Amino acid sequence: MAISLTGKIVITVVVLGVLGGMATLIYFLVTDNAEVPTVPPTTVVPSEDGNMRYRVGVGIADMTGPCVEITFMGYAEVGQTGRGIHLRQFSRAFIFVSGDTRVVLVTTDIQAVGIALRGQVVANLQELYGDMYSLSNVIIAGTHTHSAPGGHLVDFLLDISIRGFSSETFNAYADGITRSIVRAHENIVPANLYYAQANITNAHKNRSPYSYNYNPEEERARYDGNTDDTLTQVRIVREDGNLHGVLNWFAVHTTSMNMTNRLISSDNLGYAAITMEKKLNPGALPGKGPVVAGFFTANLGDVSPNIRGARCEFSGDECDNQFLLCGAGERCYSLGPGDDMFESTRIIGHAIYEGAVEAMNSPGEELTGGIAVVHQFVDMPTETGARYDPVTREFKTDQQVHGCVPAMGYSFASGTIDGANTLNITQVI
Ligand SMILES: *[C@@H]1O[C@H](CO)[C@@H](O)[C@H](O)[C@H]1NC(C)=O
Ligand SMILES: *[C@@H]1O[C@H](CO)[C@@H](O)[C@H](O)[C@H]1NC(C)=O
Ligand SMILES: *[C@@H]1O[C@H](CO)[C@@H](O)[C@H](O)[C@H]1NC(C)=O
Repeated sequence: MAISLTGKIVITVVVLGVLGGMATLIYFLVTDNAEVPTVPPTTVVPSEDGNMRYRVGVGIADMTGPCVEITFMGYAEVGQTGRGIHLRQFSRAFIFVSGDTRVVLVTTDIQAVGIALRGQVVANLQELYGDMYSLSNVIIAGTHTHSAPGGHLVDFLLDISIRGFSSETFNAYADGITRSIVRAHENIVPANLYYAQANITNAHKNRSPYSYNYNPEEERARYDGNTDDTLTQVRIVREDGNLHGVLNWFAVHTTSMNMTNRLISSDNLGYAAITMEKKLNPGALPGKGPVVAGFFTANLGDVSPNIRGARCEFSGDECDNQFLLCGAGERCYSLGPGDDMFESTRIIGHAIYEGAVEAMNSPGEELTGGIAVVHQFVDMPTETGARYDPVTREFKTDQQVHGCVPAMGYSFASGTIDGANTLNITQVI
């Protein structure tokens, strides 16, 4: 059944903190009418290839960074340097073509991508393909794994715990991501897209419910719970009816591997992807099969895979890092469902994989219409808005304030029950 996709925004927003006081917002919309973006123009393809509506390429490449000595990016734990590999890092690329419009979506097994890495990948692609690919249509997301080498973000705050820039990390990532996109470029075929969803309720939990409860009541009333349990999927089907690739979005932090881990790992989403690719490519080694299964990061803000309640490190008492605090120098953290972090990664990864299989086994809804991509740099210091009064919790519309260069609130230092610290700085301050 063909349905309109308007209003079902498949993939939403990647916000990257970047250099020079700029923030980047990237939206990828699939739309079938003129309601949505003006740049570049939305195009609708006549069905010139039989009844295939799109042309789509998929590609996967290894992008594993240096597995020893470099500090992992995520927990900002200076001593968390690599000592080997648990699960290799992959880059999974999907290219969608409709008429003159082309969009590249990539999911990578890293904490975050950053503008420098994206710029390098685009520069590599432009050497090969001219201006077909640019910062406007190449969207690269990290799965947010906290167990991969850092030093690639080219940003003081984000690279300081890694002790600065690492060319070994940066080059491995730039080369691997580029290779996955080149592979996708080389196997673009006519295809149709199908949209499906499934609920997964046993793989995540809100790690800061008291912060969530600061959202306005009318907003909270719109949802059943304080996490989004929906896995959203787009499958790509070739003209012969075979699966070409599949994209999944599910909200969970890739922090099943905790801050004591010293092995590179793609964590729960990586485990889900490898498991699904194993099922879809019988007999193929990881990363070598033709069908690519991407598990993209989604609205994972305060969503933890560590679904056991938080406990104080030594006393074992219940804690929440807000009202229930632990003793001096004692951390408050939560564990996953397994006996250790490896088993927790497997259990959470498997639950996400099962949700994806359930979505894939449903008939789904065919996507129709053109493709558009919108990309905007926002210069925050020149933006204005109403001042927020934290005491009365109201916006003062008569008091205009400017944005500032990127900054962190105090609560940043408190960490969370996924990455606890001993600073005794609570959340919600
Ligand atoms: C997921 O759960 C919500 C709320 O319980 C329900 O409305 C929705 O239909 C479910 N979706 C699927 C795909 O089962
Ligand atoms: C932590 O800070 C709170 C105030 O926010 C204070 O009441 C408590 O005594 C402190 N705990 C320790 C162990 O310093
Ligand atoms: C990390 O996981 C291990 C089990 O693999 C556990 O013993 C340890 O307490 C966990 N540490 C933290 C800080 O979560």
